[in-house]
Amino acid sequence: LIEKGIARENEKSLLEQVGPRITKLKFGNVELETPIFMPVGTVGSVKSLSPEDVYSIGYRVILGNTYHLNLRPGMELMRDFGGLHEFMRWPGAILTDSGGFQVMSLAKIRKITEEGATFANHINGAKITLTPENVVEIQEDIDSDIQMVLDECTPYPATHAEALASMERSMRWAKRARQARKKLNRAQFGIVQGGMYGDLRVKSIKQLIENDFEGYAIGGLSVGESKREMRRLLSATIPWMPENKPRYLMGVGAPDDLIDAILLGIDMFDCVMPTRNARNGSVFVRSSAAPTGKIQIKNSAHKSSREPLDSQCLCYTCKNYSRAYLRHLFVAEELLVFRLMSIHNLQFLYDLTHEMREAIRSGELFHSLPDIRRKYAPGSV
Ligand code: GUN
Ligand code: ZN
Repeated sequence: LIEKGIARENEKSLLEQVGPRITKLKFGNVELETPIFMPVGTVGSVKSLSPEDVYSIGYRVILGNTYHLNLRPGMELMRDFGGLHEFMRWPGAILTDSGGFQVMSLAKIRKITEEGATFANHINGAKITLTPENVVEIQEDIDSDIQMVLDECTPYPATHAEALASMERSMRWAKRARQARKKLNRAQFGIVQGGMYGDLRVKSIKQLIENDFEGYAIGGLSVGESKREMRRLLSATIPWMPENKPRYLMGVGAPDDLIDAILLGIDMFDCVMPTRNARNGSVFVRSSAAPTGKIQIKNSAHKSSREPLDSQCLCYTCKNYSRAYLRHLFVAEELLVFRLMSIHNLQFLYDLTHEMREAIRSGELFHSLPDIRRKYAPGSV
């Protein structure tokens, strides 16, 4: 009987570990509930939007990038202003990515050694070395609330041996980053790597846990693998992640991916997609506004439409402007269109995560899930 009881307990706790959840996070006087999406403001602005625009939608955490901010405006100015919050006048919390990913995506000539990553920067080509230690130092100057360790986003595809070597170096860097901290009042997250190999991802999270980070991220996904592959790796990794610490899936923001990853127990997301797509004239809409869940504003079908992008959407753009006006702005290359379309796309992902949170809270998630999918991610149903 006792053994049976223990078995049942264990089963229950395993289910809880991998299931969807609500967690409360607090940074200074910023309090929020997860799961959340976080808009990307690489260089100290969410492109085309004011902090007030972003805050008004409901967002309380945005991203900045260590690598970009260190190049421009540089840390002398950052220290002078007492950090990025004050410099950009953002009242919410800031998470800074480490630059490991940018080395991969921006640098043509790069050399990764045990010491760090050396490459020609994308502004003036001057040689830069990012090390686990100097990345911590830069983030302490930025004074971000959540600081990410320097990692190597393993190239895709990679053999098991390549992914192992890359992951193990990232784990040694993570340990060095943990030891390099001087200001201990900010959160620091470790990043799981391991390519497309479940066994390596499990090794990676186990090694990270030894450093007792304030949270754990999953990196190296959404790099060209199939959605099915990504879900397989999430399922392999999440059960090994501490239940009492935030879990952050990096670089993922497609509506169907958000829904599936929240179901598996992810708490935080970021992606340039909503804001980048918006600037390219592509917006997410509920399936009631377009059966595919997407609108290309340049399409001539919208030429004289008095409809908003999405009549169910309560964003500033949808409350005030027609598709015809937005299309006109886009065709005329008027700058306002970037802002209006970005507001809408960020509102869409905010509403999606809000609905997921409310469904989890009410205990009705599995009842509401088919509707949420049909509404926000019709392509995946
Ligand atoms: N953003 C998306 N993927 C990654 C990753 O693997 N590492 C880091 N540092 N940032 C990311
Ligand atoms: Zn809208």
